[in-house]
Amino acid sequence: MTISAHEDFEKALLRRARAVEELLRRLLSDHDAEGEIARPPALMAAMRHGVLNGGKRLRPFLLLESAALFGHESADALHVAAALECVHCYSLIHDDLPAMDDDDLRRGQPTVHRAFDEATAILAGDSLLTFAFEIISDRAAGLPAAQRLALVSGLARAAGHGGMAGGQALDLQAEKAAPDEAGIIRLQAMKTGALIRHACEAGAIVAGAASSDRERLAEFGSAIGLAFQLADDLLDVTATTETMGKATGKDAAAGKATLVALHGTEWAREQLAGLVEEAHTLLKPYGERATILKSAASFIADRQR
Ligand code: IPE
Ligand code: IPE
Ligand code: MG
Ligand code: MG
Ligand code: MG
Repeated sequence: MTISAHEDFEKALLRRARAVEELLRRLLSDHDAEGEIARPPALMAAMRHGVLNGGKRLRPFLLLESAALFGHESADALHVAAALECVHCYSLIHDDLPAMDDDDLRRGQPTVHRAFDEATAILAGDSLLTFAFEIISDRAAGLPAAQRLALVSGLARAAGHGGMAGGQALDLQAEKAAPDEAGIIRLQAMKTGALIRHACEAGAIVAGAASSDRERLAEFGSAIGLAFQLADDLLDVTATTETMGKATGKDAAAGKATLVALHGTEWAREQLAGLVEEAHTLLKPYGERATILKSAASFIADRQR
């Protein structure tokens, strides 16, 4: 990636993150929305703690840039992106619970169950997951109903038993019986890949792109989704807790099944380069228009946090 492409990407990531955060702050305020009976303050505070704490906002970014690839920018797209970030933050809150990875630090702050308590963390996760579907169906109302339905069903698929949650189940199982390479790739395609794949495909859906474009963006999302978890596993070995804002060096200790554990860091870096290449090739038909998304793929592989 050239220096200027990298700068453009960084600027775009920051700009999109700010817009998404501003919307999330509004959506998660203490004020009841129309039709709600009440918003329990402690639950809302826990939800905000799990969401408004400095994430990279990469999934919303991918969604918004995938929509922009087809010329679409709108407040509706921003709502759909915010909904996806709610699902991602829920997955992190639950991932950190004692029954799962048992982590105390996330994004440089105490995890939600540490700052509040376990029951509140579970409910904050439940509420964020559910709220995501309300945001898409009720608050992205400028989008045609058929598009909102496709977004709801795509997100449900990506988050549920055949996607993120299913992958998390396999991840925990794998601590006991280590899967082979194909098993690890499948597990990671589910626990991390599914939401990232959906982010890219959802951008195409929001923009009303042709089904062939939608499929191409989904494939791009799959490639960078795999790269994303590979980089995360690499950083768990190579990075510090300070830069990551979460405990590192934990995967080996917990007996996590990762490709880095199986094949080592050198192999993982080569694999990452191959995935970036694959992602870039998928975007070739879009030429210059896809520069930012291409940079995103490179960023995912080279990221330092
Ligand atoms: C961390 O995701 C969890 C994984 C899927 C590896 P991110 O690295 O995107 O976390 P935030 O949102 O920036 O904190
Ligand atoms: C988490 O993978 C994937 C999710 C679905 C949240 P990790 O357990 O490796 O994520 P971190 O390292 O805790 O962020
Ligand atoms: Mg985990
Ligand atoms: Mg974890
Ligand atoms: Mg990790």
